[in-house]
Parts: sequence; structure tokens; C-alpha cells
Amino acid sequence: MTDTSQLQADLLAQIAAADTPDALEAVRVAAMGKQGQVTQLLKTLGGMSPEDRAVAGPAFNGLREAITAALAAKKAALDEAALNAKLAAEKQDMTLPVSLPATGTIHPISQVMDELAGIFADLGFAVASGPEIEDDWHNFTALNIPESHPARAMHDTFYIDGQPNMVLRTHTSPVQIRTMVGQKPPIRIIAPGRVYRSDSDATHTPMFHQIEGLVIDKGITLAHLRWTLETFIKAFFEVDDVVLRFRPSYFPFTEPSVEVDVGYSAKTGKPAGQGQVDKWLEVLGSGMVHPRVIAACGLDPNEWQGFAFGTGVDRLAMLKYGLTDLRAFFDGDIKWLKHNGFSAFDLPSISAGATP
Ligand code: PHE
Repeated sequence: MTDTSQLQADLLAQIAAADTPDALEAVRVAAMGKQGQVTQLLKTLGGMSPEDRAVAGPAFNGLREAITAALAAKKAALDEAALNAKLAAEKQDMTLPVSLPATGTIHPISQVMDELAGIFADLGFAVASGPEIEDDWHNFTALNIPESHPARAMHDTFYIDGQPNMVLRTHTSPVQIRTMVGQKPPIRIIAPGRVYRSDSDATHTPMFHQIEGLVIDKGITLAHLRWTLETFIKAFFEVDDVVLRFRPSYFPFTEPSVEVDVGYSAKTGKPAGQGQVDKWLEVLGSGMVHPRVIAACGLDPNEWQGFAFGTGVDRLAMLKYGLTDLRAFFDGDIKWLKHNGFSAFDLPSISAGATP
């Protein structure tokens, strides 16, 4: 009995004195390992008389439990101390200013795409995408532009050599088709991306950028279209009383179709409020999705309606940031980019416009 208490006191003292995981492990092996003192003691129970065992059994087991518990507690304490030391050593000062490399800005087109995605995210739109090399069906046929349709000629399409059914997409509208075919309504998406037309002068480049919008749900009307476009354009240009002109128009894939002009001041070259507008710039094509387009995607046009719009990102960027030459967007002139680019820390949203 005295032996057991003495051994327990010794071992507990050793455990208390162990101040590293290695030291603690050595104590554990010496006590509880195969040749350990406690293990050896427990082995002697087998050779005892039943009377002796009745006394020694509980004492030895009590010893084993006390040592096991003390080892575990000490290990937890050492682990925690090690973690605290590590955390203290690796401490980061979150208040230090960011050091940025001096070069590199966000291109105005990327900036405007981000701004638009931010505005439409706040309105509940997801971002969708599609391929730039598109097939005839998605780019034209499903959008109610059959082969003989004059609108095909209007698009100045780039065809792919040796692949009669493939084109460089002439607009982002094929993403409407891909989305309606691929997911169940209700749908609220925008699709930003590059589009291509064989057209090149001071105001046209063969590659430019569009953002498509598509809403498909039950009971959608032209009023929803108008509110959405007004809300987006006000937020984008950060002009609360921006003046918009909605003109009837024609697109094969919308009926009715509406084009939207933004009023601006010739003096500033930027969108202006009531009374200061003396020029108009067309920025948007839109309309109610044609029932034939909805049907081509396998949806019942009597059940589902919606609106769509497409807008030229390059033009929006020019108008908002007062950039006059479209071709400068593609020159890669580092001076131009430094002057007209944006900080990577701009986080555009509907409530806080970007600052150049
Ligand atoms: N795809 C049309 C264009 O490129 C724009 C548009 C999109 C018009 C959606 C109506 C609806 O000119």
C-alpha cells in the first residue's frame, strides 16, 4: 500500500516537472510503457492469492488511473502552451498599411464590367457566360433569326474557316438561349463578355464588349423592364435625375423591342440631369423576350415571360468616364492606362460608385 502511494507521488512529481512534450513522453514510457513501473506492478496481480489481489487490485488500478489522467492533463497543458507560443510568434499587425506595387491598373472596360456586375448583383442577378466561338443555332436560329433572315446580314458575322456552323458570337444574346435551355425559371442573369463583328472605324472595333441581361418569370411586363433599366442606369452613371429616352425598335428576338438613349451634355460629354441635356447616346437594346425564343428553349411561352437587354460596355465606359477615342481602349499604352485605369481596391456597388 505504502509502495503504491509512494510510487504515485513520485510519478505525479515527475509529470509535474516535465516541461516539454519529450520529457513528458519519457515519464509516460517509464510508467505506462511495456516495461514501465505501473505496467510491471499490474502484472504481479496474476501471481497473487485471491485475498491479496482483492486488496492490491483496486490500489494498483487507482494508481494507473491517476497517472493516466495526470499525463493527459499535462499533455493538454503543454499543447496549449505550444499553440500560444506559436500564435504569439506569428502575430500579424492587421493595422499596417498595404504596400502596393507601383504599376498596374484595372482597365476601364474591366472596371465597368465589375461595376455592372455589382449593380446587378444587388438587384438579384447572377452572372452567366457562354463560349465566344458559338454555333449558328445559339447565335441566330434559336433567337428567331432563321437562315434567310436579313438580320443575319446586319451582324457582319465572322465565320470560322471550314466550320460552316460556327461563328464568333456577334452578341451576348446566345447566353440567353444557353441559360434558358440549361436551367429552370425563374431566371435572373447578366452575361458579360466579348463579341465580334467585322466592322472597324473610329467608333467600331471588330471585338467589343456587351452585357446581356435576362429575366424569365411569371407575369413579367414591360414595366419591370423599364424599372430595372432605369435603376441600373441611374446607379451606373451616379446621376439621380438621368434622362432616358425609350424608343420603339426592332430585334427579331424581342417583341415589343425598345432602344434606350441616355441624355448627356455636349459640354461635359457626360450624362446630365433634367434641363442640361442636349445630346443623346444609344446605350441599350431591349424588349420582351419573343414567345418563339422562349418556345425554342423548350419553355411554354404561355406560362413564362420575360425581358432581355444588351448593352455595349465600351460605350458605357466612354460615356461615364469621358473617354473619347474607342481605339485607345485597345492600344495598351501604359501612359493612357495609368491615367485612365482604376485601383484594384475599388469595390463598386449600387450604393457606392467607383472613383477613378
Ligand atoms: N443582341 C442585341 C445586339 O447586339 C441587343 C439586344 C439584347 C437587344 C437583348 C434586345 C434584347 O444588338
